[in-house]
Amino acid sequence: MARAELTVNDLRNIEGRIKDKSAEIGIVGLGYVGLPLALAFAEAGFNVTGIDTDKGRVNKIIRGISYLLDIASPRLKKAVSGGRLKATLSRSDLRRVDTIIICVPTPLTKTKEPDLTYIVSATNDIARYLRLGHLVILESTTYPGTTREIVLPLLESTGLRVGVDYFLTFSPERVDPGSKNFTIRNTPKVVGGMDPRSTKLAALLYGHVSDKVLEVSTPEVAEMDKVFENVFRSVNIALVNELAKLCEKMNINVWEVIKSASSKPFGYMPFYPGPGVGGHCIPLDPYYLASKARQYFFHTRFIELAAEINETMPEYIVERIIGALNTISKSVKGAKILILGVAYKKDIEDVRESPALRVIELLLERKAAVHYHDPYIPDLKEESFKLKSIKLEKKTVGNYDCVVILADHSCYDLNSIVREAKLIFDTRGCTVGIKSDNIIRLGE
Ligand SMILES: NC(=O)c1ccc[n+]([C@@H]2O[C@H](COP(=O)([O-])OP(=O)(O)OC[C@H]3O[C@@H](n4cnc5c(N)ncnc54)[C@H](O)[C@@H]3O)[C@@H](O)[C@H]2O)c1
Repeated sequence: MARAELTVNDLRNIEGRIKDKSAEIGIVGLGYVGLPLALAFAEAGFNVTGIDTDKGRVNKIIRGISYLLDIASPRLKKAVSGGRLKATLSRSDLRRVDTIIICVPTPLTKTKEPDLTYIVSATNDIARYLRLGHLVILESTTYPGTTREIVLPLLESTGLRVGVDYFLTFSPERVDPGSKNFTIRNTPKVVGGMDPRSTKLAALLYGHVSDKVLEVSTPEVAEMDKVFENVFRSVNIALVNELAKLCEKMNINVWEVIKSASSKPFGYMPFYPGPGVGGHCIPLDPYYLASKARQYFFHTRFIELAAEINETMPEYIVERIIGALNTISKSVKGAKILILGVAYKKDIEDVRESPALRVIELLLERKAAVHYHDPYIPDLKEESFKLKSIKLEKKTVGNYDCVVILADHSCYDLNSIVREAKLIFDTRGCTVGIKSDNIIRLGE
């Protein structure tokens, strides 16, 4: 029996449907990456179906309730009630949609190896419903080679051929959670397809939500671009963390050094020291690249060193807190410590891999009495401890031996906190400019 094939007309039709926005979009994984993307396409005029395995998330979207700080519920509700955005647990909707974008997690195993089980499971679902003309795009961050070596064989097992019967592209997500300046619209989108048609179709699609789309020659270029961007951040943060420690020894103020270096208009961009790195990207992605590199008998020493420096920052911060307590003749055992901000960076609600979790764990091991406040994270349920965010009132901070700022959320009234607190340890440099004897800072 002759197999069905895409005709030139079919191809024109697919292009046309993407151009005139009648193509339906399916987004697999509705987290920090998938939900904003789904909303962006819905607001651009596409019909979007979000598919997730998390019943709670799907139900919230159906009711127009956002679970992400970056997305206001009324905005979500408008897209849902207008019929542009749907959410479902049902994978069979994958057959109906025309393009499928995969935004599932890419965590590490306990031994810090890439864990691609979510990508494999999502791709298996897609393979079950793959049909002629489908455009499949992987957005999850992963090591170079994933699209070709993992996703492609699962899709090809259906008998359909890439670039002929269906299309496959990698396009990394570059979202900066909490950023008011950079959005999907003004952050250029990179697309690298398995073949020129796959690249072109993905570029056409993203052109509706992004002002600039950059086409690269292969998925590997796009995959490497993404991990390189994150490794670049990891290495530079590690460098400035090391510099902060050196500045302390040399009695030089690192914050002033960074400000001074930032006056150079070329060849330098500022990174800031802190308690370590967190989130689903910077702490993980270097390991994705390092692991893949080993397949080529190549050791990414620089990248792994950076990861090591960043990962040991919480221990260093705890040493400095102990030193700070010493200045008021207080031992860490029994000291009352208030952590301000446990998210991995300011103004976000994401606590994944946050260095605050390790700082708290280490302080508890040393028998400190630790409380925390974070306006965006009501409770922490870790393996070794469970805590609830305290109510932060003007007088509260004065009840603690030391207030430690780990995430400098914009809502904190720093002047008032400095006035009320006995002792502050500032890991973010957010109190630079406030003159007070009770402040001790990282990097000074
Ligand atoms: N968070 C960021 O800032 C960021 C930025 C750029 C890239 N990324 C990358 O994007 C990817 C997704 O990250 P995230 O932060 O959105 O993760 P997330 O955990 O917030 O969301 C992932 C969603 O996928 C769902 N899911 C898991 N398996 C599924 C399956 N088989 N079918 C359908 N849904 C499934 C989960 O229930 C969850 O809702 C990761 O590879 C990450 O590295 C994240």
